[in-house]
Formats: sequence, C-alpha cells, structure tokens
Amino acid sequence: MNDNFCWWRDGIIYQIYPRSFADSNGDGIGDLQGIISKLGYLNELGIDAIWFSPFYPSPEIDFGYDISNYLDVDPRFGTLADFDELITTAHTFGIRVVLDMVANHTSDQHAWFIESRSSRENPRRDWYIWKDGAGSGRPPNNWKSCFGGSSWEYDACSRQYYLHTFATQQPDVNWRNPQLRKALLDVFRFWLDRGADGFRLDVFNAYFKDEHFQNNPGQLGLRDYDQQKHIHDMDQPEMIPLLQELRTLMDEYPERYTVGEIFLPTPEKTVHYTGNDLLHAAFSSDLIESELIFPWSAGWVAQKINKRDNLFDSAGIWPTTMLSNHDKPRTASRYVKGENDDQAFTAMAVLLTVRGTPFIYYGEEIGMRNISLKRNEIMDPPGQKYWPIYQGRDGFRSPMQWRDAPFASFSTTKPWLPVHSNYHQRNVASQQENPQSLWNFTRQLIALRRAYPALRRGSFHIFFRTDTGVMAYERKLDEQRILVCINFSSSMRQVEFIPDADPKLAAILISSAGRKDFYTSHNQFMLNPHEVLLLELKPGMV
Ligand code: NOJ
Ligand code: CA
Repeated sequence: MNDNFCWWRDGIIYQIYPRSFADSNGDGIGDLQGIISKLGYLNELGIDAIWFSPFYPSPEIDFGYDISNYLDVDPRFGTLADFDELITTAHTFGIRVVLDMVANHTSDQHAWFIESRSSRENPRRDWYIWKDGAGSGRPPNNWKSCFGGSSWEYDACSRQYYLHTFATQQPDVNWRNPQLRKALLDVFRFWLDRGADGFRLDVFNAYFKDEHFQNNPGQLGLRDYDQQKHIHDMDQPEMIPLLQELRTLMDEYPERYTVGEIFLPTPEKTVHYTGNDLLHAAFSSDLIESELIFPWSAGWVAQKINKRDNLFDSAGIWPTTMLSNHDKPRTASRYVKGENDDQAFTAMAVLLTVRGTPFIYYGEEIGMRNISLKRNEIMDPPGQKYWPIYQGRDGFRSPMQWRDAPFASFSTTKPWLPVHSNYHQRNVASQQENPQSLWNFTRQLIALRRAYPALRRGSFHIFFRTDTGVMAYERKLDEQRILVCINFSSSMRQVEFIPDADPKLAAILISSAGRKDFYTSHNQFMLNPHEVLLLELKPGMV
C-alpha cells in the first residue's frame, strides 16, 4: 500500500496553551523549558505536531493574542534560545512545530502602533486603520467589537478613531498598506528560517475590511457583536491574493503548513480559503460550535461529518477535526456530567477515527474538565465584560494535571489559574498506570491510526442507522478495511454487520469495553453501553 505519510494530513496535532502546560521555574506560569521537559511525554502519546498558542512578548490583555513584538519570546516563557532548543528537541522526536500567527491586530504596546498613534503624519499612521468620526461624538460606523462595544476607539491626541475587532488594546492592522504587508510577511519568514514547520493563522479572514467602511446590517443576537451580520468587517475579496502570496512564500520551504482559524466559521468558508495555492487547511466548526445546544448523539455527529466530507471531497479539501480549544469549553465538560468518562471515550473515538487531521487540546487525553471561577477571579476580557451571561474562557485554560502532587505538579507554586480540584484522581500519572483509562485509550487509538492508513486516508461510509444511537462506519483504503462502531447511548445496542463482508473474519483492534471475542448472530452483534469497537476486516473477504 502506498503510504506517503504527510505530517499535517496523516498526523495528529496537539495544542499547547503555554501558560498552562508546565512551569519550569516555579513562578506559576507555564514556559518553554517546561514544554521541552514534556516532549518525551508527547512523543509517548504519539502525536506528530504541536500548535503553540502565542508565546511572543505581550502585555497579555488577551493572554498572548495581543503581541507587542513578533520577533521574540516573552520573558515569562523564556528566550529565543529556549525556542531554538524547543524546535531542535521537538524535531529530534519527529514532532513538528506550528506557531500561532496573530496578524489581524497587534497589541497597542507594539512599537508600530505607538508610532502610528503618535501623530497623523507619522509614516506608520497608515499601518493601522484610522478614521474620522461620524460627527457629534459618533464613531465612523456601526461595527462592533467581539469583546463588547463599538470596534472604534477614539484617540484624543490625534482626534481620530482606530479600529479594534477585539479588545481596545488590540488595534487592527491595515493589510492594504504595502509596507505593513511586507513587514508581516517578513515575520512569517523570520520563524520559518528559525525552523517553524507551520502556522495557525488567527482570525485571518478578518484581515481586510470593506474599503468604504459600510455599516453592517443588524440581526438578532445576545451580545452586541452578535447583533449584526459581519459582511463588511470580514471575508473581503482581497484575502485571496494575500493567501496566494503567503502560500508562495511557504512553498519556498519544504513541507510547511498553514491552517487558518476562520472567524465565524462555516464549512463553505473553509472551502473558499483552502486549496493548492491557498491555505493547506482551515478549521471548520462542525463539532465545536453551539455548545449550549450540542446534542452529542450519533445522528448529529454523523450528519455533521457527512455534510463536511461531501462538501470538502468535491472541492478536494482535507478536513480538520477539533472538539475543543482555548476558546471553547472542554470536550468532557460539554458532553459529560461529573467525572464519568464514558462520553469522553466516544468523543475521543470520533476525533481520532473520522477523516481529517485531529487536533487534541492539551489535557483532552485525560478528560480534563472546565474549572469554575468566581467573578473576581475572571481574567479573560470578554468574561469580565459579559459576566454572568458569558463567563469567558479561563475555565478551559487551567493548568495541566500531571500527577497527584501539589498543584498537580504543574508548578511548585500557586498557578496563574487554579488547578481543577479533581486532579488527585484525574492526572496523567494515574491514567498512565490504568490500562482502562482515557489516556491509554487515546494512545492506543493514535497508534492504530498510525498503523492503518485506512484510518487516516480511507473513505468514510456509515453502514448502520444512526437513529439507534450508534455510529458505525467503514474506513477503507485499497484492500484495508476498518469498521468503527461507537455506541453513544447508555444502553446495549444491536448493530447490523456491514453487508458485504464475513463477520467471522473480523478481528478486534480495540474495544473500550475490553471485549476479547467478536461474534455475530444472523449478522447482528451487540455493543455495550458507550462502547467503542474497532474491527479489521481481513483482506480478500467478500
Ligand atoms: C482567536 C483566538 O483563538 C482567541 O483566543 C483570541 O482572543 C482572538 N482570536 C483574538 O486574537
Ligand atoms: Ca514559569
């Protein structure tokens, strides 16, 4: 079988939120040396690449997503020498490094913005988006900031407004300015030359705004940001030539990768921005959005996966699969009450066995849960603004739970966010010792995915009715056929075996219920509650 393993298509990408992964110097904040000390752990888990949330110098209004210097490491996290060591060590393990490039906006403390706001005549004035007000103290138009209020901030000194899609301390840059454009593309080059393997592009589809600054039309929504249709402050046609230019730059280096974070994502936007001369991939929100109404069921998941696969296949686009990240509640907390991990197993099985590159959020492999915080503990700007309607994202950024030791061994001192109180039981060390743990299940599934190209590249075909609470599908590549059967329900379920194969020749690859034998009666078999079962159909069977 031809198996040209391509790290970003076939591999598994693990997201690290650097503040919360491992603290090497006892200041309560995770850092690069801490991460270096855990690369062996990640290698054991079997992942292929790490996406790092930002570690560049930042006033941390938005915890690193407000960058004040693109070409350095924040002293909280380490130095450029630590970064070089991180890349070298990661590469020794065969682990690629994907950086987070936040290029829709900078921090207001970035030297570019300090210059830009210093006067209307400053040569860098046009590097940001400055406009006169609409009169009588009104901002230039009705655009709203994602973090609350108008997206325009008045600057009393120069008597103009600047645009900020996020916090006021995150001014949007002006990608229409050729010098700014070059300066930011040089930032990509800087990190590529230092060995970075790829970039995750933060809200890239917001880079360009309507050149006439037309008002956005209104719609019903909870927060002011949701009360308008964002047709003029994102997704402008100028984005495509910029992506083409970026791709040409990336292709000067071997095996590099770009994955876009689409702001207000839809599968259609993913198709629009991805391709051989555009992004390699872009997140689609299939399984991550609408956590309030997300019914974790076989029917719902199947419908989402089918929709995106049909759309992406016809467009020749490779999907990504993600169930949580630093902006979204943790997977286990969305689908599970309390500490029971049954649905965390089904979720991990979906993540690692459907088509598309899986993204694992740190701690997902041990089923970490959201922490809850009191109002005065909230650090995230939108949480501070919208409490209690929206409590911000701190809850899903808590320190990694390594072992049953003070502060879960994340740090020797009180960490920047509390460790979840469940860390005595829920931690890496205890799950590694327990063969039935989510950690061991995850590691085994990752190993199976690596061993069986069909699980990575194979076609995806559902062979049983999903209204039964079961999602049963075949992954097939050439002669290799794998059946994945996931019981989302909490009772036993009867499943029809795939019609065109002999069940006697099916071999168990893994069963989360620990079954040792597989047999059918009248081509039917039983799945245990919440069981995940992978079978290999031996070649040559009809
Ligand atoms: C998306 C990032 O994932 C999020 O954490 C951040 O607040 C915004 N972009 C602004 O950069
Ligand atoms: Ca530290």
